[in-house]
Amino acid sequence: MAYIFLRFWLMLMCPVGVLSSSVPVVKRSEGLDVAGSLLRSVGAVLIKGGGQIPTAKEFETLAVSTWQAAGFPGLELGNYNKFGTVKRSMVSEGIYDVAAGAPAHLPVSPHSEQAYLHQVPRFCSFVCMRPAEVGGELQLFDNVMLGTALGNLTDKFAKLGLTYFRVMGDQIHSANWSYATGMWQDRFGTPSWAEAKRLARADAMMGGSSGAELGPGPEGTVVLNWTVPAVTWINTTSSSGVKPVRAVLQSILDSHKSVNYGTGIPALHSTWGDGTEFDDLELEALRAAVAQSQWASLKLEEGDVVVVDNWHYAHGRSPYEGQRKHAALISDRFPRNVKSAQEACV
Ligand SMILES: *[C@@H]1O[C@H](CO)[C@@H](O)[C@H](O)[C@H]1NC(C)=O
Ligand SMILES: *[C@@H]1O[C@H](CO)[C@@H](O)[C@H](O)[C@H]1NC(C)=O
Ligand SMILES: *[C@@H]1O[C@H](CO)[C@@H](O)[C@H](O)[C@H]1NC(C)=O
Ligand SMILES: *[C@@H]1O[C@H](CO)[C@@H](O)[C@H](O)[C@H]1NC(C)=O
Repeated sequence: MAYIFLRFWLMLMCPVGVLSSSVPVVKRSEGLDVAGSLLRSVGAVLIKGGGQIPTAKEFETLAVSTWQAAGFPGLELGNYNKFGTVKRSMVSEGIYDVAAGAPAHLPVSPHSEQAYLHQVPRFCSFVCMRPAEVGGELQLFDNVMLGTALGNLTDKFAKLGLTYFRVMGDQIHSANWSYATGMWQDRFGTPSWAEAKRLARADAMMGGSSGAELGPGPEGTVVLNWTVPAVTWINTTSSSGVKPVRAVLQSILDSHKSVNYGTGIPALHSTWGDGTEFDDLELEALRAAVAQSQWASLKLEEGDVVVVDNWHYAHGRSPYEGQRKHAALISDRFPRNVKSAQEACV
């Protein structure tokens, strides 16, 4: 029964063949200059491996060479766990297992990788080592289209930004905390509450110049929260040349109480940057706009690598059945461009 329901739901979620042609495709053997120029002009590229699964080192070289060829020479691999708020298991140094987090039968909500941080990875990349038997498509969502679809909510995002919240355990007062946000003593590497609060305030990667705030949470837990801009200017390429446009760069639906997995105290939450909750109409508008911004849905085959401009496109995944094995990596991070090139020049 559940199986039939899932099948039906998968059909609704992933209309076969639709949208899948948006991501340009190159062969690994064509060389990475072609992939780089497609990444620069379109913002995403699928590199087909002809069924050959790259080693972790080959995956890293493919992804890094592609974004470097796209006009970011010197841009290196980023360290996922060093600044993330949820520990991911590593397939190898700098390459993480995407299976951590959402259960297979639930979708992964669209988000740009680590968009909850003040400094956001410029690129991310995925490799397929084993596709799911059913479903498990990688979906890409256009953050520029999202900005347009949100209408005046985009102005509200630009004005207020976003506040993200993470609940963590305390080794003594909530020793049973099991969510991957972990214990604050481990996260900050100290048993001293005063020192942890100081380190949070100094965390510019996470909270910019104001840093992050550490305080008491419910049932012996603690809460870490910080505020980031939600709108960034990116360059898009069309027949009339390169143009700066606004994009809404966010991780809201992946970081909201209403969609947290499991039971108990929700570990992740987000609000407007002034601390007010999204009301039901705003959440509904956000969900509709995100759905409308879906740009591509593709089922990766063994050995396929996708490199994505993480500022231009958010990613998600559809529910699946079977032993799906994908790994991912990110580039170094930068603060969002909160002003357009033109504005910055006046
Ligand atoms: C945004 O637009 C909606 C409908 O178009 C309107 O109901 C709402 O009041 C507007 N909000 C703001 C802050 O302008
Ligand atoms: C953990 O312990 C606290 C306090 O004893 C209790 O309120 C809470 O329900 C427990 N949580 C879990 C997930 O067991
Ligand atoms: C953290 O949250 C509290 C209350 O929810 C708020 O007053 C404070 O401004 C927030 N701090 C940051 C840095 O976002
Ligand atoms: C867009 O292009 C301008 C001018 O070349 C550059 O200064 C800016 O950093 C670019 N923005 C992004 C997000 O790449």
